[in-house]
Amino acid sequence: MNEQISHAGYRLVVRTATAVVLALALATTATAKPKVTILATGGTIAGAQASQAEYGYQAGAFKVEDLINAVPQMKELADINGEQIVNIGSQDMNDEVWLKLGKRVNEVLQSTDAVVITHGTDTMEETSYFLNLVVKSDKPVVLVGSMRPATGISADGPMNLYNAVAVAADPNAKGRGVLVAINDTVHAARNVVKVNTSNVEAFRSPNRGPAAIVNTGKITWLEVPGGRRGAKSEFSIDGVTALPRVDIIYAHANMSADLIDAAVANGARGIVLAGVGDGNATTAAIDKLTATAKKGVVVVRSTRVPSGLTYRNNEVNDDKLGFVASLELNPAKSRVLLQQALRVTKDPQAIQRMFAEY
Ligand code: DGL
Repeated sequence: MNEQISHAGYRLVVRTATAVVLALALATTATAKPKVTILATGGTIAGAQASQAEYGYQAGAFKVEDLINAVPQMKELADINGEQIVNIGSQDMNDEVWLKLGKRVNEVLQSTDAVVITHGTDTMEETSYFLNLVVKSDKPVVLVGSMRPATGISADGPMNLYNAVAVAADPNAKGRGVLVAINDTVHAARNVVKVNTSNVEAFRSPNRGPAAIVNTGKITWLEVPGGRRGAKSEFSIDGVTALPRVDIIYAHANMSADLIDAAVANGARGIVLAGVGDGNATTAAIDKLTATAKKGVVVVRSTRVPSGLTYRNNEVNDDKLGFVASLELNPAKSRVLLQQALRVTKDPQAIQRMFAEY
């Protein structure tokens, strides 16, 4: 009899211990928050005015710790740590900072669940696309900025930052490429452009629409963005210390060819035409670009028009003149992709494939 009790008692102890361990494990899992690293680069989100009612302000006045401390509610969403990469207005963004930021993102993603990058809005569409091409992980990378300085009346930065951390902490954000979260909307890096100089609704994805809607941290995901990126990208910046010079030439009525010559004389290895209409320009400019392409400088036709595609062989015979058509990419993004493409090849047909894929 005693033996039976001891067996039954033993089984009860084992079952109870198992239940306790399972409960602890579940409790731990339930409270385990994703680890999100915030990399700060400056911009209006860290900007300060001399007084709240003044328009003028200085971008990059506050540090990453100030931004994190201003939104304590973020700590309910994720375990957060911050790093200051630079503290500049994003109009001063350059290849050196891009390479430093891209390498740091690749490094940090080996030990954190997601990255949020605070950034000025002026060149956010370029930095986000650059990272979309060179960040090797499919973990969430979310850029965020603001249109009003941190000291402004109804500053939009704190809520934008809260939403960006909510997006980064959401497992559904994985595999969607680099994202931009601003003004309750999430955009894919490949699609997003800045469309207004001052309005809080300053960003759109004119050709494809947003990747998600976010309201106080609640996210409604829309279709997964297209385009080759992340782990599937052929571009790596490991060990890279410089990027090829690519200039953008803005087309207009009565455009001369002089600036094209100037770009080549200053070492441009690629030229992006911000063309009128479907990537067009004056005959003088097209003739100069044709001669330039023949010298081995790669020419990409894009458009100054805010939406629509620049089609191959529409009014300009790209096959005959040796040009690349930018398709969905605006001039600023075309420059970002052409810089990476030129590190791989100078062949316009091979580069046209890249514009169709990325
Ligand atoms: N200086 C501009 C920049 O850093 C301000 C624009 C902004 O961040 O909203 O991009």
